Amino acid sequence: MLQSTNTSRDHLLVFINGQRHEVAGLNAFLTLSDYLRLRLGQVGTKIVCSEGDCGACSVLVGRVEDVVDESGGGDKSRGGKLIYRAIDSCIQFMYQLDRAHVVSIEGLKRNGLLSPVQDAMVKCHGSQCGFCTPGFVMTMAGLLEGDGVDRGEALTPDQLRDGLTGNLCRCTGYVQIIDAGCAVDPGKTARLSELYPDGPIADVFNSHSQDGVVVTADDGRTVAIPANLDAAVAFKAAHPGCTVVAGATDIGVQRNKGKIDPREVLCLANVGEMMGVSYAGSNLTVGACANWSRVERSIKDIVPQFHDVLTVFGSPQIRNAGTIGGNIANASPIADSVPFLLVMGAQLEIVGPNGTRRIDINDFYTGYKQFDLSADELIARVHIPLPTEAQTLRLYKVSRRRDLDISTFTAAVLVELDNAGETIRNARIAYGGVAAVVLRLPKTEAFLTGKPFEESVLREAGQLARTEVTPITDVRGSADFRLQLAENILAKFYFDCAQKTPV
Ligand SMILES: Cc1cc2nc3c(=O)[nH]c(=O)nc-3n(C[C@H](O)[C@H](O)[C@H](O)COP(=O)(O)OP(=O)(O)OC[C@H]3O[C@@H](n4cnc5c(N)ncnc54)[C@H](O)[C@@H]3O)c2cc1C
Ligand code: FES
Ligand code: FES
Repeated sequence: MLQSTNTSRDHLLVFINGQRHEVAGLNAFLTLSDYLRLRLGQVGTKIVCSEGDCGACSVLVGRVEDVVDESGGGDKSRGGKLIYRAIDSCIQFMYQLDRAHVVSIEGLKRNGLLSPVQDAMVKCHGSQCGFCTPGFVMTMAGLLEGDGVDRGEALTPDQLRDGLTGNLCRCTGYVQIIDAGCAVDPGKTARLSELYPDGPIADVFNSHSQDGVVVTADDGRTVAIPANLDAAVAFKAAHPGCTVVAGATDIGVQRNKGKIDPREVLCLANVGEMMGVSYAGSNLTVGACANWSRVERSIKDIVPQFHDVLTVFGSPQIRNAGTIGGNIANASPIADSVPFLLVMGAQLEIVGPNGTRRIDINDFYTGYKQFDLSADELIARVHIPLPTEAQTLRLYKVSRRRDLDISTFTAAVLVELDNAGETIRNARIAYGGVAAVVLRLPKTEAFLTGKPFEESVLREAGQLARTEVTPITDVRGSADFRLQLAENILAKFYFDCAQKTPV
């Protein structure tokens, strides 16, 4: 049941390194890194790229989170516990942090002593110029907080390599940094809940959980941070020109590059109803504001193919902020989730002043960055039918490097064979990076239907697939390269499924 907002506030309520801050006016529109550095003089947090690509600005953000019940029963509340996750503070706005506890590098030290992670970085020579170091330290501190790490066991090199993909160092080299992470004894490392007891902070946050927040600055810019979906829809209907912000991993980059400067913002950071992930029968329902880390944790055993793509989606910091709704509405032709959603026939649940409607995502995109969403509507949830036992799904992401890279080409291939496993009953194919939108390939799908599942057939289908795409040349790859990928990926699909090696 939807709860209504019962109190209105004209300022943000944010804790930073244990201190309560009431943030109002223009300060609410600053990035977190600027607020820390320019307003608080806490300059330990560094800024290098300002676009989420280097992790120098990493900080930990603690929230009272609902957690996903992976058995399929829906979300459970963790009530009084704060869960901390690393994010890039250069592309996180203060208004996204209402009812959040930020811990920056200054907040890790206790009684003048370095934290165990900082101490290990010194002892293992994990730092030279030092500019990247606070970011590495914060991300490692976040890994030690993380759900998956046993308190008694040290981080492994693999956990560190995966966990630090969002942090770049250009002078030390990663070996010493990984050594430092492995050297930290989690048993002797105080958890953030020991440094900053959860109870008092969570009590403040919970007592304000139904506040509707509207902050207006002197220059007239306004942000609304509603506490529920009804209030979000009402604000959007009354302000159809406003900019919707979920995780801001796209919006923050555009703003830092000077492409946009939103004056009226609807921030969805407090709309818990839009953050759940639940699984019932053959359907997965994902709230539009569920961030990618939450989706990744919830679907590991349910759709492992999609999970694998998410492990190379941006970086942990990006996945801790970016959302599925933002990926869909950003409408990039190389959005990594969209090929999967197209072949599965995901339904978008869209809400507006006239109620709720559902649309198949295959009918959603109408052109480059064009889609079927009115100015007064929001994407609320995504309903995803899961692959059946008879269907084989493979997802591909081709990029210039494995981690933290934008795709050059993406593909989702879903094939259903007959009972004998010899004839293709049905095929669905979606490619990204080859046209103005992520494309389905109807001619290639029709060609495959009823054909034997053989290498020669998939190769012929690959040649047909070339004719259905219109790639361009850009910094990530030439049109020719993308055409070749469009052809070859179907042969790769055959070899992956048949578990054969090409001759
Ligand atoms: C360093 C970096 C790496 C990245 N790597 C990848 C990657 O590997 N793969 C990939 O696909 N993307 C990547 N991205 C892009 C981005 O992270 C994703 O598109 C992400 O899912 C966007 O979600 P968000 O919540 O941050 O969106 P936001 O920036 O908050 O919003 C994006 C757009 O969606 C709109 N919007 C958001 N939520 C809703 C809603 N519920 N209803 C209607 N409109 C809405 C906003 O108004 C805006 O136009 C990367 C970005 C960065 C900065
Ligand atoms: S400064 Fe590079 S990610 Fe923020
Ligand atoms: S120590 Fe110089 S960039 Fe990492």
